[in-house]
Amino acid sequence: MAHLDEIIAPVAAAFEAFRERLDAATRSEEPFMRPITRDILRSGGKQMRPLLTLLAAALHGEAGDPKALAGAVLIEMIHWSTLVHDDVIDEAYVRRGEWTPGALLRSKSAVLTGDYLFSKGLGQAARAGCFGAMRATTRAIELLVDGELMQMEHARRMDTTEAVYTEIIRHKTAALLAAAAECGALAACGDDPEAEGVRKMYRFGELLGLAFQIQDDLLDFGFAANGDPLKTGKVLCNDLRERKMTLPLIRALEGVPASTRRQALKHLRRAGERSASVAWLRDFVAQSDGPAYAAGVMGRYHAEAVGLLEAYPESPVRRALTAYADYVVGRAF
Ligand code: IPE
Ligand code: IPE
Ligand code: MG
Ligand code: MG
Repeated sequence: MAHLDEIIAPVAAAFEAFRERLDAATRSEEPFMRPITRDILRSGGKQMRPLLTLLAAALHGEAGDPKALAGAVLIEMIHWSTLVHDDVIDEAYVRRGEWTPGALLRSKSAVLTGDYLFSKGLGQAARAGCFGAMRATTRAIELLVDGELMQMEHARRMDTTEAVYTEIIRHKTAALLAAAAECGALAACGDDPEAEGVRKMYRFGELLGLAFQIQDDLLDFGFAANGDPLKTGKVLCNDLRERKMTLPLIRALEGVPASTRRQALKHLRRAGERSASVAWLRDFVAQSDGPAYAAGVMGRYHAEAVGLLEAYPESPVRRALTAYADYVVGRAF
């Protein structure tokens, strides 16, 4: 599988410009925000969404287009802001191998930090006149919030089906990857949301987003084919502790006797407090075809996404987008 650095290669100069802008847009000189923004910049992340924006821009025009760069910064800052909030919601204290703002600052400051990133991201996009990207991204945030709410309600009821799971991940994760790819195409297509390239890139990002979240959920169990649990930089099995029923568990529950299902749901109800229940559920899923089934569904999204690229002539950028799709489903962190 290609390394991220190789995938960046065709847009390397634009990616460097993106990083500089991100740094400038994030850093604060205000006395209370300054140390927080420094920590955020240090922790980094894979920056996969802005990479998608720049590759989509390069496929339809120029990766270094100022609107593509501002769109890429917007997407990454919104992503950061939602992660800071997500870790408060999920009570997750480790991410990217470091304590989360929620763990270090308590959730009150983490909520404000998320708001700060959100506002700075939109502010720099407004100054760049990046209105197409702002429309696409704010729509994605609406869907993301809806997805998180849907997930919370079904986690409470412990009744997530495969169809519900797909809707949850389409909203909470795929919408932002879709917007990331869309923003790149929008920059090159005069901000026209109906342009063919824009619609194609939206669907490409959405399919990869669905695959991305399935891989995230496999990694949460430590089940991904290349998954080295130590590399994820997050605590394993947090989804179970939060009663999130993800695809491997949903599948494992299908077709088992009613008594086994009741037993599994009893463990899920207690998973937040009892590590023995987390271990029971993890074994239950490991012994089922759940992980293989989830990997199969993910593979179909990947194949459909790669198929969309066939409409474009062969080029280094198209090859990089194919490698990007491979990376999404093969990543170990
Ligand atoms: C994590 O996204 C949130 C999900 C949608 C699963 P990433 O895995 O892209 O997070 P970073 O930015 O690289 O840490
Ligand atoms: C992340 O979902 C999607 C967001 C809306 C941020 P998860 O809660 O599964 O992501 P991780 O595993 O914490 O990164
Ligand atoms: Mg989370
Ligand atoms: Mg997760």
